[in-house]
Amino acid sequence: MMCQTGNEETKNWLNEADKSLLFTANRPPVVMESGEGMYMRDTEGKSYLDFIGGWAVASLGHSPAALSRALAEQSATLVHASPGFLNKPMIQFAKLLCEISGMDKAFFGSSGAEANESAIKLARKHGAVNLNGAYEIITVSGGFHGRTLATMSATGKPQWKELFAPKVEGFKHVPLNDLDACFAAVSNNTCAIMLELIQGEGGVHAVQESYLFGLRKICDMYGILLIVDEVQTGMGRTGKLFAFQHYGIQPDVITLAKGIGGGFPLSAMLTKEKYDLFQPGDQGGTYTGAPLSMAAGLAVVQEILDRDLAANAAVQGAYIKEGLELLAAKLPISNVRGRGLLIGFDVLEGTAQQLAADCLEAGLLINAVGTSTIRLVPPLIVTQAHVDDMLQLLAAVLGRQTASPTPAFIQEASKSPQGAGIA
Ligand SMILES: Cc1ncc(COP(=O)(O)O)c(C=O)c1O
Repeated sequence: MMCQTGNEETKNWLNEADKSLLFTANRPPVVMESGEGMYMRDTEGKSYLDFIGGWAVASLGHSPAALSRALAEQSATLVHASPGFLNKPMIQFAKLLCEISGMDKAFFGSSGAEANESAIKLARKHGAVNLNGAYEIITVSGGFHGRTLATMSATGKPQWKELFAPKVEGFKHVPLNDLDACFAAVSNNTCAIMLELIQGEGGVHAVQESYLFGLRKICDMYGILLIVDEVQTGMGRTGKLFAFQHYGIQPDVITLAKGIGGGFPLSAMLTKEKYDLFQPGDQGGTYTGAPLSMAAGLAVVQEILDRDLAANAAVQGAYIKEGLELLAAKLPISNVRGRGLLIGFDVLEGTAQQLAADCLEAGLLINAVGTSTIRLVPPLIVTQAHVDDMLQLLAAVLGRQTASPTPAFIQEASKSPQGAGIA
């Protein structure tokens, strides 16, 4: 890893990272040290306006007071009780999430993949109990559900086909927004359909309303579960608390992570009373419902509700899209899309990683997904002034993008079958 700016301390950190970390992601040669609100700061004191938000995680921005306070209070009270005991924040958080989502029951984990694993297990349990052993789950191409073996298999990225074979069996992949293909894929073995309503990692592609209505009908007709992966879209990100609320349908299962913890590792699977099928031992984990994570989640979600940050996401998201459309009239960007603060746009083929790197250099964090798409997922606290700054920085970088040599870490990222290796 080459240190471009040359501060001794940063060089030492980068050397140490090379020595002691497994190489699981192509990272730029900076070391982040602190954060406040919409900004992160590196070990050289350089500040970055953050439109990645820890990959849609930092819903309240960096180091939010509500989260710090909750963590301090709960850690002085009870950090961990074991999953073998109830604790107060666990019960309070389950109640709150069920109330705001229209669901009845919650299971907690630590990552989005774990929430999706729980949904996959619940679907298979439903198949075993109610559908004569049906076990197959239909998922949508271009979706992303995590990096455990089962969620990688559910994801079905073509680049992952040969990785870690053999894959977990029982997943069928169908094209996005093709209802006939999904209908054709349903068989006696099907126990669930699982999808994101806006594919985040896949490049910010939304499901059509008629498609989702059709999926709901198919699920009702055959008694199979509709699982909506709201790990990225959930908790205000798209301008409503949950993306499914834009469509007026109710899923049978939803999975949440990222934004509900505001940076604290936390996930949840929510379902209806009717699918309360797990028996003790079917699903669990040492950290399920741990008091510290539950207190963090409660504080973050309550703050999102109290400040109506979903509404802010809708307003600022529309403002960002307007600004990007204006830029698109003059600069090589196109296909501005997305909802709320999950926004994508296309750049010239092969230039997305370079644009993200140039923006980093200019003090702006944006995320390249694939080779020609940029994704913006800023904290939900973003203001119009931050958006203006972002648009100005982006326009300046796009305007001076020249044939300057591509840094080594970007060349590596574009060669790697997993892209930048971060979701
Ligand atoms: C829609 C979706 N589902 C699941 C995951 C996996 O979440 P985690 O990385 O917390 O396991 C992600 C991560 O980006 C995601 O975007």
